[in-house]
Amino acid sequence: MNAVEIEAAISDLALEQFDATEFPYDFLAAFGNKDTTLKRLRTGNNNASDVPGGVLQRNNIHIAVCQPDGTVGEILKALRDSPATAKAKAKFILATDGQTLEAEELVSGETVACAYSEFPNHFGFFLPLAGISTIKEIKDNPIDVRATGRLNKLYVELLQENPDWAKDERRPDMNHFMARLVFCFFAEDTDIFNGEGLFTKTVEQMSERDGSNTHQVLSEVFRAMNTKLAERATGNFRPWANQFPYVNGGLFSGSTEVPRFTRMARTYLLHAGSLKWREINPDIFGSMIQAVADDEERGALGMHYTSVPNILKVLNPLLLDDLRGQLAEAGDNERKLLNLRKRMAHIRVFDPACGSGNFLVIAYKQMREIEAEINRRRGESHRGSDIPLTNFRGIELRDFPAEIARLALIIAEFQCDVLYRGQKDALLEFLPLSKENWIVCGNALRLDWLSVCPSMGTGVKLVANDLFGTPLNQTEIDFENEGGETYICGNPPYVGKGKKSAQQISDMEYVFGPRSVKHGYIDYVGCWFLKAAEYGRHTNSACAFVSTNSICRGHQVPLLWPQIFADQYEITFAHTSFKWKNLAAHNAGVMVVIVGLSREPKSSRKLFSISDEGEFLAKSVPFINACLVGGANVLVTKSSMPLNGLSSMDLGNMPYDGGNLLFSRDELIELDLTVAQRQKFVRRIYGSKEFTNALCRYCLWIDDEHLSEAVLVPSIRRRIDAVKEMRLSSTDAGGRAMAARSHQLREMRRADTHTIVMPRTSSESRHYLPAGVISVDSTVSSEAFAIFDAPLWQLAILVSRLHLSWIATICGQMKTDFRYSNELGWNTFPVPLLTEQNKADLTECAEAILLAREAHFPATIADLYDPEDMPDNLRHAHERNDEVLERIYIGRRFRNDTERLEKLFDLYTKMTAAAAKDKPATKATRGKKS
Ligand SMILES: C[S@@+](CC[C@H](N)C(=O)[O-])C[C@H]1O[C@@H](n2cnc3c(N)ncnc32)[C@H](O)[C@@H]1O
Repeated sequence: MNAVEIEAAISDLALEQFDATEFPYDFLAAFGNKDTTLKRLRTGNNNASDVPGGVLQRNNIHIAVCQPDGTVGEILKALRDSPATAKAKAKFILATDGQTLEAEELVSGETVACAYSEFPNHFGFFLPLAGISTIKEIKDNPIDVRATGRLNKLYVELLQENPDWAKDERRPDMNHFMARLVFCFFAEDTDIFNGEGLFTKTVEQMSERDGSNTHQVLSEVFRAMNTKLAERATGNFRPWANQFPYVNGGLFSGSTEVPRFTRMARTYLLHAGSLKWREINPDIFGSMIQAVADDEERGALGMHYTSVPNILKVLNPLLLDDLRGQLAEAGDNERKLLNLRKRMAHIRVFDPACGSGNFLVIAYKQMREIEAEINRRRGESHRGSDIPLTNFRGIELRDFPAEIARLALIIAEFQCDVLYRGQKDALLEFLPLSKENWIVCGNALRLDWLSVCPSMGTGVKLVANDLFGTPLNQTEIDFENEGGETYICGNPPYVGKGKKSAQQISDMEYVFGPRSVKHGYIDYVGCWFLKAAEYGRHTNSACAFVSTNSICRGHQVPLLWPQIFADQYEITFAHTSFKWKNLAAHNAGVMVVIVGLSREPKSSRKLFSISDEGEFLAKSVPFINACLVGGANVLVTKSSMPLNGLSSMDLGNMPYDGGNLLFSRDELIELDLTVAQRQKFVRRIYGSKEFTNALCRYCLWIDDEHLSEAVLVPSIRRRIDAVKEMRLSSTDAGGRAMAARSHQLREMRRADTHTIVMPRTSSESRHYLPAGVISVDSTVSSEAFAIFDAPLWQLAILVSRLHLSWIATICGQMKTDFRYSNELGWNTFPVPLLTEQNKADLTECAEAILLAREAHFPATIADLYDPEDMPDNLRHAHERNDEVLERIYIGRRFRNDTERLEKLFDLYTKMTAAAAKDKPATKATRGKKS
């Protein structure tokens, strides 16, 4: 269940007659607990409560219901003191008597105490019960989720009743209608309309209960809002419609046709109207409700929206920190304050994938806050704002979010005016709505950004009669920006390889094609960076986008970043990988980075990261490279041999056998070999899958001196013949030549004692690379890498956190898996000079890891390295290994991957410089592909 569904369920529960016995179960059901779970709790099997009448769900909540005699506080205390609460690791306790309700989140100590009927207002507090990490704005302001739920029900009902409005041609009308409703709900709650609740009351009083004439009532109200007061007399308006002000034809102009309502649709509309729209938060509201109009997104109902703290991670270092710094520096100096105000009036914030405008809204609100402080210090508190809303520009592909973005900005402006200048002044200037269109609906990759956000100019070139009548796809919007600054920001769609639509592939060709870049590997979001860099050639601008971290890893790095750096851009700040959390239930959260670029960087760059302990770190560094590592401007390139003194790592043996030399356990039985033959001619073979999942796969392993004996076995002979046939039919001369030794794999690399195996791919979620050791009588296929007879301390390096962070950054990912490369990852991995004692310590660590694994036999590597379920002893063995290795590097543990990479890049620079000195420049360094 998502947050909207949970809110709806607990709202329904609060409306029902209170039933003391059923309440705990109904409450748990509202948070998505299945019938079977509840049944087990009811029968007492899973109910560990030690409080009379209590229901205790392990790891979740302890609930108790009491008589309506005012003892709720005492019952809550009993729940808090109950040994069972602690033993079952309950996160929440809740007590109610059907009149009041009290609850506590035990870790934070946060409490809720309210009338029973009011508890749905606090649903955000309880969301962790459904596995949803709560976001502060939702907790503090649940209205946005509630409004989304109500509008969603209305939207679905209206589409059902008006199927023609669901078709592509009429969807924009439907979406426009919803935007009008949102405006009316907000306006009737904020005195923009005369009389509280005027809109909802009018619909309630003037329309039939069965909904049959609701569309006519709405249409009449909309017509009034589209007619100036001076022109009303001739319009023959019904008196109840005449009470509505002229809003500006924009939002209500054009067709006043309204979809037909059912009884339910009318009820949903009234329910939506009864919410406190005054409190909606345009920062997040738009992002949530935009999902209502999106058939694919509706299921998630805006739960993927971007939280304000995440948006500020982009906006603060991009521009707001600087403005705040200037404000602090200005103190009470009137001239400096004035200059800052003037500067802000000429700042444009441009989001070329703006969705419903959340980045623009936050930027606007934050700048208004700074301006209000300037005005306060200058004794001009009631002064109108100098910051034009039209300086907050966006491009958005879809029509509904684009409409909502405009609305959200209008609402944000009104709320700021109320906050900083007072309700009276805010109302005086609010209506009619202003004319300009500053959100363009279109494809940002096809539009010329200069036409949306020109480098400078005066006046507005294309203005329609009204705000919402301006064609949505209108570009070429001009406005005053002489001497201004432009900040481009946003969270464009990421879309990795294999997930792009035909349109998106063609967009990429349009953007990257002229530069002859192989863009197939670059994520779609890369286009926004490139467009921003190109835009910066013409106007004073800086940019920062949220992106998937893959654009700063592996093969995307040399494809994308040289293009941007060629335009004299530098990374001025960056947030290294962090999890992009949202309200979606149980969301794994994609790993993202934030990259800020400018052509005029300051003397130091800011690198933000999260420590291994979850602490926020900010560091000034002299340079940030494309892998978002501070300090070193280097690009790691492949090396055909280890630069670090480590043993050589090869790809395993390639069969090149047409499927005849390798076989399953069943096929092995079919070969019908004696024990001696089996020992002599067959080996177990490991690729990535076989190694991580302990799958049995075998191969024929026939040394030349045993060939004559082997071919006497008919089943072996048949397989060798089949290989011969396959190799002879090869179009490749090398392949045909191999037919002469068809009893063997293409390579027959072997160990004398043991082999260290490193799978080619590993799931991104694992905390360690799943390398290990196999015995001398097994071999490795080309689906894995092998280090033959290497000392065990090298395994300690391979499975370290340090090595994983190197691989993740340098080799990058394939889908969501790490893709190992010997030439790029192992041969380049910087290792300091190790003493014999270091090697002995690391050997001990590697042995401890192998022993810890063995203690769980027959668990597979995949089982053991499941991040959710890694055994404690194995985790400890790895932690010890990391501790020992990292102490060798810097004498302590690294604080996080950012620090690890900084050290590794520094060592890499030194290592490659030393290698270059040692070797003549002509020596070939390119080797086998991996
Ligand atoms: C990840 S969302 C970000 C929206 C918003 N800033 C947020 O955080 O919720 C990306 C937005 O880009 C829009 N979009 C996708 N492709 C686009 C394109 N080619 N041009 C303009 N907008 C696009 C999507 O419709 C979506 O609203």
